[in-house]
Amino acid sequence: MSTKHGLFPQVRLRRLRNSHKLRSLVREKCLDINKLIMPIFIKYGQHVRQPIDAMPGIYQLSLDQLADEAKELVGLGVRNVLLFGIPAHKDAVGSDSYSDDGIIQQAIHLIKEAAPELLVISDVCFCEYTDHGHCGVIHASSTEANVDNDQTLALLAKQAVSHAKAGVDIVAPSGTMDGMVQAIRQALDAAGFVHLPILSYAVKYASALYGPFRQAAEGAPLFGDRQTYQMDFGNVNEGLRECALDIAEGADMLMVKPATAYLDMICRIKQAYPALPLCAYQVSGEYAMIKAAAEKGWLDERRVAIESLTAIHRAGADFIITYYAKTFARWLKEEK
Ligand code: PBG
Ligand code: ZN
Repeated sequence: MSTKHGLFPQVRLRRLRNSHKLRSLVREKCLDINKLIMPIFIKYGQHVRQPIDAMPGIYQLSLDQLADEAKELVGLGVRNVLLFGIPAHKDAVGSDSYSDDGIIQQAIHLIKEAAPELLVISDVCFCEYTDHGHCGVIHASSTEANVDNDQTLALLAKQAVSHAKAGVDIVAPSGTMDGMVQAIRQALDAAGFVHLPILSYAVKYASALYGPFRQAAEGAPLFGDRQTYQMDFGNVNEGLRECALDIAEGADMLMVKPATAYLDMICRIKQAYPALPLCAYQVSGEYAMIKAAAEKGWLDERRVAIESLTAIHRAGADFIITYYAKTFARWLKEEK
């Protein structure tokens, strides 16, 4: 059924690729700094700016560094941050995480004061706060890494409410417990935070790509792994079920994590729920791989980073958590 029209040589797709100006005009997906979220790792101490070995350019910062960091980010054009706290003392239930003067609560206050323009998201989990490094409380009768789901829910609710009281803009539960969104929504509503949105780490795989992060957040499990609560990376349908449940429980936004190796999931979820804002997390290992190859001179860091972030966006992510957010803002400034 060939027709004369709509085929070569009348049609030549190269026509629209012929100049930078034309390519810019017809480019379908572009990165926007407003849609990037910069993670920050916060520690106790003074004048701490501790580089993370496996994540060149990323630091653990003490509370006294936060005001300057927040202002610098705003000056560069970064609009959104995601906070991770490393407490001075860890215990079996991660009690610093829901203390009103815990590390993250202090950090939220400081950032809000120094840079009210920043949108502040808090990671809601226990792995940085527990002495065993798991994302919840360990089942009393268990010798293995068996996190007690329902007992953890009550503590997650407490933690989210304490972040809300400190003034956070969005809570992002990352512990992959069943019912976590419902527990947090109910607790927030009961405490009067009916307008505080929940960004659920709905489709979070048990991934080896979190390796560098565990150094940054000092939250590696002391025994076992996270396979009894995070998703198996062979699974697609389970991720769709996770999304359906989280939406029913009241999630305002969903997340897929990691990003680059899971573009299929980003694409499917966007197609299944086009109206729901979808986030993707370009995780520490994805960042580290680009950095390492760039350090060796094997890849062009800037081009690879932008290509990979654009691909995540193209697949269907509306916004992206990335350790490149600050650097990307710098690149934008340089271009101008
Ligand atoms: C905590 C949490 C992790 C990450 C974000 N939140 C680690 C994990 O689940 O083991 C990983 C982020 C990254 O690798 O950049 N639950
Ligand atoms: Zn965790």
